[in-house]
Amino acid sequence: MPDMIGIILAAGKGTRMKSKLPKALHPICGKPITRWVIDACNTAGVTDCVVVIGHGADQVREGLGSDVRYAVQEEQLGTGHACKVALTEITATGGNVIVATGDTPLLSAEILKRLADDHVASGADATVLTTILPDAGHYGRIIRTEDGSVQAIVEARDCTPEQREVREMNSGIFCFKLDLLREYLGRIKPANAQGEYYLTDVVALMARDGRKVAAVISDDTDIVLGINHRIDLAYLTGIVRQRILERLMLDGVTIIDPSSTYPDFDVQVGPDTVIYPMTVLEKGCRIGEGCVIGPSTRMVNSGVGDGVTVLSSNIVDSTVGNGTQIGPFANIRPGCRIGKNVKIGDFVEAKNSEIGDSVSLAHLSYVGDSTVGDHANIGAGTITCNYDGRTKNRTVIGPNAFIGSNSTLVAPVEIGEGAYVAAGSVITEDVPPDALGIGRSRQTVKPGWAKRRREGAQ
Ligand code: UD1
Ligand code: CA
Repeated sequence: MPDMIGIILAAGKGTRMKSKLPKALHPICGKPITRWVIDACNTAGVTDCVVVIGHGADQVREGLGSDVRYAVQEEQLGTGHACKVALTEITATGGNVIVATGDTPLLSAEILKRLADDHVASGADATVLTTILPDAGHYGRIIRTEDGSVQAIVEARDCTPEQREVREMNSGIFCFKLDLLREYLGRIKPANAQGEYYLTDVVALMARDGRKVAAVISDDTDIVLGINHRIDLAYLTGIVRQRILERLMLDGVTIIDPSSTYPDFDVQVGPDTVIYPMTVLEKGCRIGEGCVIGPSTRMVNSGVGDGVTVLSSNIVDSTVGNGTQIGPFANIRPGCRIGKNVKIGDFVEAKNSEIGDSVSLAHLSYVGDSTVGDHANIGAGTITCNYDGRTKNRTVIGPNAFIGSNSTLVAPVEIGEGAYVAAGSVITEDVPPDALGIGRSRQTVKPGWAKRRREGAQ
């Protein structure tokens, strides 16, 4: 792509979203709307990107990242005004600039390159990216003269009935000669239905002066669609999700039902993994080869090795080793490092724990703030009491230890390597390696008691 500076307009509140969150930050498959636009610009080769922010500026800056420059538009007086604010951050003269709206997340690097290449090759003063829609709805209309050259862009609400019929719409993405953009932005007036300074008016002024205004028509109608309300958000999210799913399937992942599988943009899955319906894979998930994930599983920012099975479970900010089986109905909370060939069964909750290889944690347990050695066997109903009402304490269970069912391990406490804990124990003191810890009262058996009761003797 020819050398270009980028301006991305993202200062608007997004009133039509009816949200406390600025529109720029609403996620699409785990990535904020405007970040999609920034990434497209970066991939296309835009050298220096200025993002115009305003509404919720600090939050937006934080949410979009520090690899771009920001210009703050204190009052949102329109897209033309926003561009002017961006230009105060740009000292260069000469050359070209790409202007993109920050609410068009499907924008691709390819189309940006095509726009930039065409703009430079044709020697145009301005080039607008357009597409043809069956009904251009609320988008600005591209008004052309008899000979087909672009004469103006008219907002839907400023259109005459005749102009409203035009199906070629303004994507909001432009290339301009930088110096001319600067000059013409100084000349636009807020004489329209919204009383705003419209960037689009630059086009009409240039055309009137006999400057060369060109258009690049995108055949792909989706890539120029903007998000104005939550119906748009859901629609575009569906398109992005489908693309992610197709990437995964082409990489060798079986997705039983793409319409009920929800991977975020950066999810990685190895070949021959099968993903069952109702599976949500949020940002930062990495899944190995030959796994079976789902149905009904949610994973967030977690890494899973090869040959892992996860059924009807929740895994957050954790890692899972090769060959491990999880679920159904396990809740793996942040900070777990689970080893290889582990069995974590139904109704097990784990948090901030290191669980060694080949551990069996098969049913109904809570393991929190714990270290569990390789080959330990933890019986059903085992609870680590990690919290004493003030602080969190650690439980250490040595390799090959055996914890009998329904045991309560009151932390801080350590069960040594190879030690046993008798079922039903409340363990408050360390159990040394190879010892047996019993923490329950002895059973008493009263012979004949039940019979005497039946016979009314007691
Ligand atoms: C705009 C275009 C319209 C085009 C559509 C494409 C204008 C006047 N209209 O309309 O022709 O079809 O985009 O999606 O340009 N913004 C600011 N500061 C402001 C106002 C807006 O930064 O003062 C930003 C918004 O945050 C948004 C973008 O500019 O990201 C577009 O603004 P929006 O209000 O959504 O314009 P549209 O009505 O969609
Ligand atoms: Ca818009």
